[in-house]
Amino acid sequence: MIVSVLASGLVLASNALAGSETLKDAFKKDFLIGAAINHDQIFEEDSRGVPIIKAQFNSITPENVLKWESVHPLSGQYDFAAADRYVQFGESNHMFIVGHTLVWHSQTPPWVFQDDQGRPVSREVLLARMREHIFTVVGRYRGRVQGWDVVNEALNEDGTLRDSPWRKIIGDDFIEKAFAFAHEADPQAELYYNEYSIENGAKRQGAIALIKKLRSKGLLVSAVGIQEHVSLDWPTEQQLNETLADFEKAGIKNQITELDVDVLPSPGRDHRAEVSRRMTAGAEANPYAQGLPASMQTKLAERYTALFAIYRKHAANLKRVTFWGVTDGDSWLNDWPAHGRTSYPLLFDRTGQPKPAFDTVVQSQRSIPNL
Ligand code: GLA
Repeated sequence: MIVSVLASGLVLASNALAGSETLKDAFKKDFLIGAAINHDQIFEEDSRGVPIIKAQFNSITPENVLKWESVHPLSGQYDFAAADRYVQFGESNHMFIVGHTLVWHSQTPPWVFQDDQGRPVSREVLLARMREHIFTVVGRYRGRVQGWDVVNEALNEDGTLRDSPWRKIIGDDFIEKAFAFAHEADPQAELYYNEYSIENGAKRQGAIALIKKLRSKGLLVSAVGIQEHVSLDWPTEQQLNETLADFEKAGIKNQITELDVDVLPSPGRDHRAEVSRRMTAGAEANPYAQGLPASMQTKLAERYTALFAIYRKHAANLKRVTFWGVTDGDSWLNDWPAHGRTSYPLLFDRTGQPKPAFDTVVQSQRSIPNL
């Protein structure tokens, strides 16, 4: 048993899973609790992760299997083997099933944007490809996948539109088209705009303006997805509070869609969860290869407790909190922005045991009144 004392004075005991309250039950009056799940978990080959997913979470997001490169790797060729299993997994376990993601500049194969000679295709051709992809993928799971990340990461840090191949070829209205196609393909599905770093003011205002503009054209945008790849000190609690309040004031439902807390050093203190960002890892960049010291476990627990206190404060307008992974060993942060580090961003450790942060999060639900 691990016992830790938080600065707040809370004394916490970390027991094995058996008998302890689950995340989804602790927050059942507040919001859904989700996890991004990987290929081995979807195929139930991960005997450590799967019981945790079934016990703790009531929503799932596919980490990779519904991204364009996975589901539609070649022109005219779809591979639904993993995606079908993903949806079945969610249905068998009565979970809220999220589709991630339809239109993104990353993990989309180059052929999508090119003709046979490798030259950029026309606006008409790319729109036709986008429509066909969305109709095929969303249409296949119509009525089964309950919400889709329609467009992922279309903004720059200053809130302007990112000059992705989608925008370069189609123009600014590629976002409108994506939402229109998705709604046509499944009129019952919720549709989301998903983004990182929108806790930062300029980008947040860009996201609000974008969603308002889409809605002013009669398009359905059910909620914003705030990815929430955070560190111990970014965003500040004030920034996060303001973010949730600003979307609420704009009449936009919030979702936390990719939560993890990075405790490893980040050179230049660059907080962007920009997937193309890379650094080389020397030993100093991987300080906890042998394990996370108790003092850091406590810091992580305090950070998670503070985050969940804010989520609860905004629970009336917050639909879901989804973690980006199940156990620390699964996390993308072991390989980003540097390969081969040992990261500790989630609530379950590499052996599948709940960490002190798990207990503080569950206990905070019981012991700290809504702010
Ligand atoms: C972004 C994407 C996710 C995932 C993470 C990193 O946040 O939305 O699908 O790729 O990056 O793993």
